[in-house]
Amino acid sequence: MVSGSPDVWRPRLPPGPGGCGGSRVPPIPGRWLRLACLVTALANCGGALGLLLFQRPLFERLGIPLPLDPHYFVWMAGLSFANGLLAYYVYRDPPRSRDLLKVGIVGKGFFSLTAVYYYIFAGLHGFFLLMGLWDGIFAFIFALYLIQLQAPDLARMNAGEVWEGNGSVPRRAAILFYSLTGTGRQSVLFLKRGLESGGYTVDSFPIRPIERDLFSFPFRSLGQFLRIAGRAILRRPARIEPLRLPAEHDYDLVVVEAQTWFVGVSAPVEAVFQDEGNRAFFEGRDAAVIVVCRGLWRRSQAMVVRHLERFGARVVGSRAYEHAGREPSRLFTLAAYLATGEAGRPRWLRWLLQPRYGLSGGALEDVERFGAALAARRS
Ligand SMILES: Cc1cc2nc3c(=O)[nH]c(=O)nc-3n(C[C@H](O)[C@H](O)[C@H](O)COP(=O)(O)O)c2cc1C
Repeated sequence: MVSGSPDVWRPRLPPGPGGCGGSRVPPIPGRWLRLACLVTALANCGGALGLLLFQRPLFERLGIPLPLDPHYFVWMAGLSFANGLLAYYVYRDPPRSRDLLKVGIVGKGFFSLTAVYYYIFAGLHGFFLLMGLWDGIFAFIFALYLIQLQAPDLARMNAGEVWEGNGSVPRRAAILFYSLTGTGRQSVLFLKRGLESGGYTVDSFPIRPIERDLFSFPFRSLGQFLRIAGRAILRRPARIEPLRLPAEHDYDLVVVEAQTWFVGVSAPVEAVFQDEGNRAFFEGRDAAVIVVCRGLWRRSQAMVVRHLERFGARVVGSRAYEHAGREPSRLFTLAAYLATGEAGRPRWLRWLLQPRYGLSGGALEDVERFGAALAARRS
């Protein structure tokens, strides 16, 4: 199990373009998320008290109708104040407040959704919609913070650390990868280059689904995509060809490349870890993870890292890479690419699409640097 920091080693790497290397995921620093908790604590407590004390003049000035039942309003303000206190306690001691964050996500999320609902269907005043949107944003921030607090090791790895290995010498690496649309395959090439620059010999093992017709790209029909999507949403496993990974091998590093499918790891990669027969390949070895995705990587990365740890590997590094560009253009680019199989198509949508699908050049260079850092890790 990866733990504590005493054996952390920071390799000196050439800086990447734009500081963090194209679209390698820049982790949101924990201190920002913590500060956000203080902000919402002050806003909730201050706002609730302000509303209780100055509700009438404030509402009259803003033209908001006074609540029909003042008791409910007072209760709501009390709950909002309590949510602010909760955020303050999270701010004071984040690692011990994970359960509080869960309560905060439910409370703020519920308030946010009901505000939107009543605004649309019951004519609620826009003032409350704004409060709801504010709470929605903080429910999201709480969720990000919760993930980060539950996986502090991943936050540090994403920030660039490569950890000490387990001391073996051969300098041979195995990369297990799956790639439907080619992004992962491309990242593996750059990773391999980085590892080889550090003196490694690298073998790649593609993960091959048995249902080749289904898991093939470009899609032949909308139905094919919907089947993959439906199964990913329901988290139905995929059957893969046996990896025939030898239990006795001399790879001192095993890298798993994976991608996000509907906020989880793709089914073919997950299948590797659903087969206990593969455990021996990872047990006692150094392991690293690369996740590629449009933008949602946290859960899939955590899934792969935890699977590796469950199989007894020592996870020494993990990186996630997002597609080039910003939202919503990235989302449209992904949808258009899945639909047409070609970047920049359809032409009439070009103004909205990224010129390329997948990782930016800067991100790929960063993958290569990651490979070099893994090769240079102290073992
Ligand atoms: C069925 C499907 C579902 C996806 N779901 C997500 C998702 O929930 N979040 C995300 O960020 N990317 C999602 N993506 C985008 C992929 O993670 C992204 O395109 C990745 O680069 C694909 O890697 P590959 O080309 O190696 O298959 C999805 C892609 C597919 C095909």
